[in-house]
Amino acid sequence: MSEDRQRIGIIGYGYIGNYVYEQLTSRPELGLEVAFVYNRSREKIAALPPEIALEKLEDFASKGADLIVELAHPRITQEHGTTFLQQTDYMPLSLTALADAQLEQQLLETARRHDTCLYIPHGAVVGMDALEEGRQIWEEVRMVMKKPPRTLDFSASPQFKAEEIRAETVLYEGPTRGICPLFPRNVNSHAAVALAGIGFDRTQSVLVADPRLEVSVIEIEMRGQGVEVKVQRSNPMKGVSGVFTLVSSLASICRAKGPRSGLQLC
Ligand SMILES: NC(=O)c1ccc[n+]([C@@H]2O[C@H](COP(=O)([O-])OP(=O)(O)OC[C@H]3O[C@@H](n4cnc5c(N)ncnc54)[C@H](O)[C@@H]3O)[C@@H](O)[C@H]2O)c1
Repeated sequence: MSEDRQRIGIIGYGYIGNYVYEQLTSRPELGLEVAFVYNRSREKIAALPPEIALEKLEDFASKGADLIVELAHPRITQEHGTTFLQQTDYMPLSLTALADAQLEQQLLETARRHDTCLYIPHGAVVGMDALEEGRQIWEEVRMVMKKPPRTLDFSASPQFKAEEIRAETVLYEGPTRGICPLFPRNVNSHAAVALAGIGFDRTQSVLVADPRLEVSVIEIEMRGQGVEVKVQRSNPMKGVSGVFTLVSSLASICRAKGPRSGLQLC
């Protein structure tokens, strides 16, 4: 059976990367195996088996991954995304990188030319199927995200200071393309909604910091031709990521590369 298992390369061994590695290596029923793990700070992966811990990302091709999953930073896609897609399939979780229209086009063009696949994980966004299926009919897609200020990374938006936000504060309202460079580590689900539905320029994003919140709340509304869908999801946070994001990311990897038989949602 082992020789049939698809091999997964993991970039980023933090909150999500650690979970994905543990699950893939401890649950043979998932039918996948880990090809490599790469992390910028080497000490984090020092305890992993030497054949799994990848020292230089440039050597990724020697590990024969069937899918590379980025669980680290948007910079990975900017710097290596097209190189990965020349060799194998690629699933970035830090989707804000794709708000750069030129990079998105380069990635898609490379995937087309090399017959590889760019996977967009739903990252705990509920309703991606409806967003994609209704692309032709949605006249309006709007996403409101509310987060505790302590979970936001303000390094690309120094005009705001987390400790000075004492009441509900709107940090951004406008097209999704504009919010991605301002909060690249926090608004990946906005990018996922844009990619699934009507794109970065037509999707509207609102980001609210609320110090009274303990969880991350997203509300998505899609409207068009009399059809209306409203989704609300609440997710406890650890660092920049939500708890539901763990199971959702693993499920995306399994759906992309896991063995397929028996009951399947479609
Ligand atoms: N698509 C989504 O909905 C969604 C949801 C949650 C998180 N994310 C994104 O997924 C990524 C991982 O989230 P997390 O909570 O596990 O973060 P984390 O901070 O816990 O872990 C990130 C890991 O990547 C490593 N890293 C950072 N930059 C790197 C680089 N340039 N090269 C190699 N390694 C690097 C860090 O050392 C760390 O170990 C983040 O970019 C986050 O914004 C996306």
